[in-house]
Amino acid sequence: MCMVIFSPVLAIFAFATCGGYSGQLRVRVDCADKNQTNITISFGYPFRFEQVHFKVPLCDLKRHETLFLEGDFSKSAQFFVTVAVFAFLYSLLATVVYFFYQNKYRENNRGPLLDFLVTVIFSFLWLVSSCAWAKALSGVKEVVASTQVLFLMSACREPANECEALEKPVWTRLNTSVVFGFLNVMLWAGNIWFAYKETGLHKTSQRSTRTLSEKQSSFSQRQCSQSSFDHSGASYGQQLYRQVSFDHSAGGFSLPHTSLGPPSLYSSSSMGPLILINDM
Ligand SMILES: *[C@@H]1O[C@H](CO)[C@@H](O)[C@H](O)[C@H]1NC(C)=O
Ligand SMILES: *[C@@H]1O[C@H](CO)[C@@H](O)[C@H](O)[C@H]1NC(C)=O
Repeated sequence: MCMVIFSPVLAIFAFATCGGYSGQLRVRVDCADKNQTNITISFGYPFRFEQVHFKVPLCDLKRHETLFLEGDFSKSAQFFVTVAVFAFLYSLLATVVYFFYQNKYRENNRGPLLDFLVTVIFSFLWLVSSCAWAKALSGVKEVVASTQVLFLMSACREPANECEALEKPVWTRLNTSVVFGFLNVMLWAGNIWFAYKETGLHKTSQRSTRTLSEKQSSFSQRQCSQSSFDHSGASYGQQLYRQVSFDHSAGGFSLPHTSLGPPSLYSSSSMGPLILINDM
């Protein structure tokens, strides 16, 4: 739970760079009869290339052929994005629980144990999905390589016609997503150690209860210092013995004005003034 902030952010980068991708390849087909056509092939996440089609002129006659790209990389791409999205959701949830429900989180050590388990699982999933996605990406690049696409077009296989790639797809974003995938692997695998430390399994159970009681005693010490202040107030209150009853009513009156959060009321003795302490 140490790098709570980094996990959601890195997960966002991973699925945004992969899931939001769309690229295109533009090809010019110069037929022998001087008729020129530009073809744009657009593709994107989830890289199901069997569904990417485009029309290419057959240079003889005025006919066209419809071609499809080959290959289906959607499984790896979708697996990667799904892991990233769930890792994002989990780390967001864990951050909220860690910061706002600290007591519930520590209860019976269940929170840290669960967090440890989930962290191990996500580290593994990140590793598998990043490897799968890296492999799929190299496949995607192979299929969309301009020489490969030009070879599909019958017009371009004839030497009389000229074909040329005008614009090749930009791979930077997808390369970045692979890098983010492996950064996430490192982050989550590193988190395993911190999550393990949080569970307290490496200590004896005696020790862990001691640290818990230490925390409680330090908290009660804070209360003690408050009440010592209270005592001085009480001695002051004893001096003004006759005004104590007035004090009480004043304290009671100021209660609805001053309390913003759920206040705890402490009064050292029946004579002391009321002190409002907001629990943080
Ligand atoms: C050139 O190609 C366009 C579109 O591919 C077609 O409409 C047109 O008839 C062609 N012209 C000739 C002279 O072949
Ligand atoms: C194809 O693209 C090239 C370069 O962008 C341009 O010069 C040409 O006019 C285009 N041809 C057609 C038919 O759109």
